[in-house]
Amino acid sequence: MKYFILLFVATLTLFQLSSCQLSESYYNLSCPNLEPIIQSEFRKLFFLNPTAPAALLRLLFHDCMVRGCDASVLLDFDNSEIKSAKNYAIRMQDTIGEIKLLVEDDCPGVVSCADLIVLAARESVIQTGGPRIQVPLGRKDSTNITTSLDADAKIPPPSQKVDDFISDFTSKGMSIEEAVAILGGHTLGVGHCKNIVGRLNDPAQWNPTDFVYETILRIRCPLDNDFYNSVPAVPLDLTPVCFDNQYYTDILGGRGVFGIDSMVAKDPRTLPFVTNFSQDQNHFFEVFSSAFIKLATADVLTDGQGEVRAICSKFNN
Ligand code: HEM
Ligand SMILES: *[C@@H]1O[C@H](CO)[C@@H](O)[C@H](O)[C@H]1NC(C)=O
Ligand SMILES: *[C@@H]1O[C@H](CO)[C@@H](O)[C@H](O)[C@H]1NC(C)=O
Ligand SMILES: *[C@@H]1O[C@H](CO)[C@@H](O)[C@H](O)[C@H]1NC(C)=O
Repeated sequence: MKYFILLFVATLTLFQLSSCQLSESYYNLSCPNLEPIIQSEFRKLFFLNPTAPAALLRLLFHDCMVRGCDASVLLDFDNSEIKSAKNYAIRMQDTIGEIKLLVEDDCPGVVSCADLIVLAARESVIQTGGPRIQVPLGRKDSTNITTSLDADAKIPPPSQKVDDFISDFTSKGMSIEEAVAILGGHTLGVGHCKNIVGRLNDPAQWNPTDFVYETILRIRCPLDNDFYNSVPAVPLDLTPVCFDNQYYTDILGGRGVFGIDSMVAKDPRTLPFVTNFSQDQNHFFEVFSSAFIKLATADVLTDGQGEVRAICSKFNN
């Protein structure tokens, strides 16, 4: 009997130790249908809306930049993160809420909103032709308040300097090569004039090769106003619904949309990786995958911290 209790306690301890960390099989027992639900729901959604994967990948980035990936970007109250100008044109938060309801039907109270954002971004990459990233799960949702001021401070502006770009991502445990790879998220999606006009008046944000494209952007985005921000936005590469290495070919060819896209194709610390990724899509996919995992795991809340929200836009109480 004594031995039995000892064994029981030992097993319990082991279980608790292992469940404190993120793991790919975190929900295998508690929510075995999670992966099939995610796959089929997003397949339907992406078929109906080919711009959704871009929105969901950017949503992950913006969630993870402010105190780690904790679904803080989904909270909706006066002055919550989403109210920051840095979150301009963030879309599809409601989609995470809808997937959450489906998952709650199947396994109530188990899967965090933070993990659903990660899974949505992962599925966005897979279903647009990118790598199948093995991403660990088990994040908890935030219980502490963050505000639009936190998002203002932590989410980089399109005019970000390469120095700050490097330190933002190395602080998440990435190499410079991985930082250049994660910026390759700009292989999907679009930008608005609001985020483009600034660079047109700042030669520091230009690469000499951008000469022709600069003229195109000036015609497309003469002003930051409601009219120019509402007409169809500027694609971030030639193939904005395909996850491929076209973005790197474009920024090398002087077709970077934001200041930062242009500057990483000029700075000697980042240019070699841009050149390599433009020639070697397999290598880009490998480095993007390791960078994605670092972005998605740095500073996250695990068991004993945070909570699993019932509704993604609200704290539980
Ligand atoms: C220094 C780093 C970064 C800066 C300054 C930056 C800036 C921006 C800006 C200004 C927009 C356009 C918003 C708009 O005008 O509609 C944008 C869009 C986007 N960003 Fe980034 N970004 C950065 C890093 C990343 C990373 C790491 C990812 C993903 C892993 C990412 C994914 C995206 C995607 C997918 C879009 C398109 C969204 C859509 O079509 O709705 N970005 N980014
Ligand atoms: C967890 O489930 C996934 C997907 O069904 C499977 O690929 C993986 O092998 C499982 N892992 C464990 C440890 O059971
Ligand atoms: C949340 O807030 C409490 C009280 O202010 C603080 O002690 C704790 O460190 C915070 N947790 C996180 C993850 O920021
Ligand atoms: C890109 O870099 C990787 C790692 O350094 C290297 O193995 C690969 O051969 C390079 N690809 C090209 C086309 O230079």
